[in-house]
Amino acid sequence: MDHFDLRDGVLHCELVPLTEVAEAVGTPAYVYSRATLTRHYHAFANALEGIPHQVCFAVKANSSLAVLNVLARLGAGFDIVSGGELERVLRAGGEPGKVVFSGVGKTAGEMRRALQVGIHCFNVESGPELELLNAVAGDMGLRAPIAIRVNPDVDAETHPYIATGLRENKFGVDIAAAHALYLEATRLGHLEIRGVGFHIGSQLTRLTPFTDALRRVLALADDLERDGIGLAHIDVGGGLGVRYRDETPPEPADYAAALRELLADRNWPVLLEPGRAIAANAGVFLTRVELLKHTAHKDFAVVDGAMNDLIRPALYGAWQEIVPVSPRNGESRRYDVVGPVCETGDFLGRERELVLAPGDLMAVRSAGAYGYVMASNYNSRPRPPEVMVDGDRYYIVNRREQVDHLMMRESMLPVAD
Ligand code: LLP
Repeated sequence: MDHFDLRDGVLHCELVPLTEVAEAVGTPAYVYSRATLTRHYHAFANALEGIPHQVCFAVKANSSLAVLNVLARLGAGFDIVSGGELERVLRAGGEPGKVVFSGVGKTAGEMRRALQVGIHCFNVESGPELELLNAVAGDMGLRAPIAIRVNPDVDAETHPYIATGLRENKFGVDIAAAHALYLEATRLGHLEIRGVGFHIGSQLTRLTPFTDALRRVLALADDLERDGIGLAHIDVGGGLGVRYRDETPPEPADYAAALRELLADRNWPVLLEPGRAIAANAGVFLTRVELLKHTAHKDFAVVDGAMNDLIRPALYGAWQEIVPVSPRNGESRRYDVVGPVCETGDFLGRERELVLAPGDLMAVRSAGAYGYVMASNYNSRPRPPEVMVDGDRYYIVNRREQVDHLMMRESMLPVAD
């Protein structure tokens, strides 16, 4: 459920007509709904009632300070994968004590900063990382809190680019090698073992891969316990899918029921790292039809948004719904909705049955996750603004980038004499 609805023939975000937002900030633009973010956060929190837990929003899905701040105020923690994301969380008012740090290539500098601010846990993904972290913590006279991110070798049944839990993927520690790494962690002097974690992939539409992974990780935890290594939490990662078109992903409640069943007699706090499930359907990407181009073979709607703004269709062949903001009557045509970038792969949607006229506003739905965060300046296109709607008000939370910003850090060679 989200808060984007047609009212009086105009698509609204909560109580604000998207025509009004486009008028004020221009297009293309991202628009987020605070009420939807809140609803999705609560869906997790309510479903997990009774189980000690912490929802750690995956910052990579949407790192807007305004979005992070809305979630931090609800009590969210955060899953980060870089020093940059950590600074965003801190700036947005997130509590460092609710931060988990994932990722296969954390640098010593990033580790130092995370230790300095006191994050909850590092999700360690390899032996060399464990040693580096131990050394950094030792230099600082501290013990680094760790969990080992285990790669449980299950097929997440999702797009290969976003599957992470197979043994050929770069992520996590092979489940067969994890036990030995925990033993090593007990020998190193500057680590404190907190828990275990896994994350098998994103846009999961079935629970079975997730429950299979959880069972394997729990068996590992039992083995560790027998060796006297007690764990204080389990981090089950993110990955719950959303409905882009006709998928029927499990609801947070189904997901929580599976957790409840499998974790029944353990009193561990559960950490979750959802990104997409909270943010995707809380945002749209607004774009305007520049012109309609009809050829003998195809009808193109050329819009002002492009793959540099929203890359998911081009990169993963992802399907996101495209709807007119003010639907008009008339004869529909089957359009490829394309941007002005010089690549054939620059499309937002293909073969969409739409009634359009030049100048029409359209909304690409489900754009609140992996949208703006993946935007680039390809073709020297400034990135779009981000707007947050809250009831009947809207706020520009990130102004449109200007061409000058793109060249600000550049220089040319000295003039030759
Ligand atoms: N935790 C870890 C360790 C992750 O690697 C990810 C996502 C998440 C949590 C959050 O997963 P979510 O709940 O959002 O599925 N750009 C791609 C998605 C890449 C996901 C990478 N990792 C896309 O647009 O589909």
